Amino acid sequence: MACMRLLIWALTAQSFVASSHAAPAPGAKTGQGRRNLIFMISDGFGIASEGLARAYIQQHSSRDIKWGSMLDNMLVGTTRTRSSNTLVTDSAAGATAFSCAKKTVNGGIAITDDNMPCGTVLEAAKRKGYTTGLVTTARISHATPAAFAAHAVDRDMEDLIAQQLVDAGLNGTAAFGPGIGNVDLMFGGGRCFFLPQSSPDGCRSDELDLWQMAQNRGFRTLSSRKQFDNLLKPQDAADSAENLQSPLPILGLFARSHMAYEIDRNPKDQPALSEMTAKALDILNAATNSTTSNAPSSSSPGFFIMIEGARIDMAGHDNDPAAHLHDIIEYWKTVSVVRDFIDHNPDTLLVSTSDHETGGLTLGIDPEYLWYPETLHPVRRSAESICSELHHAEDISSDHNVLEAHIRNVVLPTYLGITNFTASEVSDISSAALKGAKACKHAVGHVVSNRAHLGWTTGGHTGADVGLYAYGKESSQLRGSLDNTQVGEFLVDYLDVDLQAATKSLVHVPTIQKGFVKRKH
Ligand SMILES: *[C@@H]1O[C@H](CO)[C@@H](O)[C@H](O)[C@H]1NC(C)=O
Ligand SMILES: *[C@@H]1O[C@H](CO)[C@@H](O)[C@H](O)[C@H]1NC(C)=O
Ligand SMILES: *[C@@H]1O[C@H](CO)[C@@H](O)[C@H](O)[C@H]1NC(C)=O
Ligand SMILES: [Zn+2]
Repeated sequence: MACMRLLIWALTAQSFVASSHAAPAPGAKTGQGRRNLIFMISDGFGIASEGLARAYIQQHSSRDIKWGSMLDNMLVGTTRTRSSNTLVTDSAAGATAFSCAKKTVNGGIAITDDNMPCGTVLEAAKRKGYTTGLVTTARISHATPAAFAAHAVDRDMEDLIAQQLVDAGLNGTAAFGPGIGNVDLMFGGGRCFFLPQSSPDGCRSDELDLWQMAQNRGFRTLSSRKQFDNLLKPQDAADSAENLQSPLPILGLFARSHMAYEIDRNPKDQPALSEMTAKALDILNAATNSTTSNAPSSSSPGFFIMIEGARIDMAGHDNDPAAHLHDIIEYWKTVSVVRDFIDHNPDTLLVSTSDHETGGLTLGIDPEYLWYPETLHPVRRSAESICSELHHAEDISSDHNVLEAHIRNVVLPTYLGITNFTASEVSDISSAALKGAKACKHAVGHVVSNRAHLGWTTGGHTGADVGLYAYGKESSQLRGSLDNTQVGEFLVDYLDVDLQAATKSLVHVPTIQKGFVKRKH
């Protein structure tokens, strides 16, 4: 079955007929020389997002018109994005299509349409002996990472999702191995869902201290940049008693909630996505390399890791082109870290795609045929960070003149690099700031977008197809216009793992959070 699917995608995008008689394609033999699978999700990154960042770099770094990004050079097709109940998916259903290779309803975290948990590619990989990882710039309990290792009927059940990620406080329904709690390495944000409600940084609705429970379960926990940096690279391990044993499992959460937008990130506080990825690959590679001393088992087939550029999407929701741009460039950088790893470990496959497009970004608005990438260059901060500062200023003064003065004197010239602003740009931002965070972020984003001649059709997602990219081992087997569930099937076939067996081990996993109250968005 595995080779058949590969063959179909490789050779006949249109016809699924008569494939059972086809001979295996060269290199498509199950498992031959395959080791690791790195799956990357650029959340909310559409084809226009790639064009935006490419044109920016071409212009700003004086690149040739033929210059392509790390992703351009590995384009293999497109991914279709709909969920089971709507043509416009959310990230929960989008990630479930990849992780379970099944459609579900928007909001569903690795569950089927009938609310039953479905085994994921990560869980099935773990059952087969692979070492597993999740890296994201969002909260680790957020929809995309959650859908690889947790099961919930609603993406906002993050109390329950966090418990499942570390297999804690579930009354023995779960167990390492079969069941849940299958992730060996987690890097990202979202510490607050691991801390009790009464803790200063906590955001749970109960008093469970999952941080402590994870430590009791053997997790090494990290929360600071310093701890991240001190996590020695495997090749340095020989001299260090601390590193003689494998550092896995490991839980590194470097922000209370989401990690910072790349444009706002203070490198002294938080590692970048590319840094978390480089360290994760080092650790997973060492743990699965039978020739190094700290590998737990010489029979480990390799590793599976999902890496998410999460805030590309959130900048799209904010209609904030500069934050979108900088998170895309950091994602490219991460792709280049992964490609470099594959050049040294050619038994590894990278697949990168998006769950959906966000914002309905267009490059150009009526009436002229042009847009100005250089408008984004002087922008220093995300709309999110600007609006939280304005909200604060408004709290302090509640004086509209003070707010407008701050917009004229600081926000427009210093943060956005706009010195010849108009009175209406100032009042657009100040009146939106009084309406709330969402209106404010859109107003700031639209001032920059209008000057750059960029358009947005929505503060949500769209149903557009997105790019599909692959590099490394058997990447030539992935071709054409695929449904998101077919991308999931490809991952499963590459690892040659059994989703049905993983599903069977999940029957007792609680998918509903007790006392859950749906937040209003
Ligand atoms: C675990 O059991 C205790 C006592 O029976 C109960 O209060 C708690 O809600 C249970 N937790 C879960 C996650 O089922
Ligand atoms: C395993 O580790 C050894 C020693 O560091 C290295 O030479 C070898 O290339 C590694 N193998 C893989 C598959 O990474
Ligand atoms: C502001 O200055 C820029 C660069 O000189 C110019 O392109 C733009 O049209 C000006 N905008 C306004 C509103 O004056
Ligand atoms: Zn989104």
